[in-house]
Amino acid sequence: MGQEVAASVEPAVARGVVLVTGAASGIGLATARRCLADGFVVAVLDCDHEALEAAASELRRWGRVLPVGADVSVEVEVAAAVERVVDTFGELYAVVNAAGVGGYTGDVVLTGPSDWERVIGVNLTGTYLVCHASVPHLRAGGGGRVVNISSQYGLVGGAGSPAYAASKAGVVGLTRAMAVDHAPEGILVNCVCPGPIDTPMLRRSSSDGGPPAVAESQRVARRSLVPGPGRPEDVAGAVAYLLGPDGGHLTGLVLSVDGGWTAS
Ligand SMILES: NC(=O)c1ccc[n+]([C@@H]2O[C@H](COP(=O)([O-])OP(=O)(O)OC[C@H]3O[C@@H](n4cnc5c(N)ncnc54)[C@H](O)[C@@H]3O)[C@@H](O)[C@H]2O)c1
Repeated sequence: MGQEVAASVEPAVARGVVLVTGAASGIGLATARRCLADGFVVAVLDCDHEALEAAASELRRWGRVLPVGADVSVEVEVAAAVERVVDTFGELYAVVNAAGVGGYTGDVVLTGPSDWERVIGVNLTGTYLVCHASVPHLRAGGGGRVVNISSQYGLVGGAGSPAYAASKAGVVGLTRAMAVDHAPEGILVNCVCPGPIDTPMLRRSSSDGGPPAVAESQRVARRSLVPGPGRPEDVAGAVAYLLGPDGGHLTGLVLSVDGGWTAS
């Protein structure tokens, strides 16, 4: 039994293992690419198994990658996925919670209980579940990093997004509470609040939500101080800073990557 476990553990790696959720697309995928470029080993988690395998094939060109299929809103799947990562590599240095769903569900009357539960379940409960399963392993390694992807809508209101805004404000609160609890263990917990970023989610939010969602995206675009949507790589760069050696004195930070949107 002991031999079996030892055989499944690959040798420890220079810069540690980072688990990135939502890594089959958009911000999570760009973050996984950036982590590999920075010398980390990366475990990529997503519920879209086909897209995850395609992403992993591309990412393997840059370094060691383990794809793990799981739905972040399902506790047993998250627990099994995190165990698989630790069984494979023998350690876990950091977690980036990028898995999420949009977006435009209409006002609080139009947003039905199933919309509410789905959005809160993935964006907020999913982030909690991944942290719940991962922090014991960061602690066992003597410390580590957590980066949660919130949103500008975690800081300010937006039309037609009560569930999304509540979920993302919850991620900000979760981040700060975890920063307080885990700093003594050497675990630094921060969050990044992207503004509009050119990903499949942003494109879907306008097409699925109809004219009111288009009007909201135009309102948001007008307020940005830097023209155009950001790139997924802009967010990945901020995450890399929080994971890297220059992030060693940062915890509880809420970092906006929004082209100045929340400043104006
Ligand atoms: N794109 C933006 O403009 C923007 C702005 C602010 C915040 N964000 C946040 O950034 C994060 C990434 O968004 P994106 O724009 O890259 O979106 P995306 O749709 O391109 O990627 C999200 C990924 O998460 C995965 N996912 C969704 N539900 C999941 C679940 N239950 N379990 C596991 N994986 C799941 C999807 O399969 C997908 O691969 C999200 O949390 C989103 O709310 C995005």
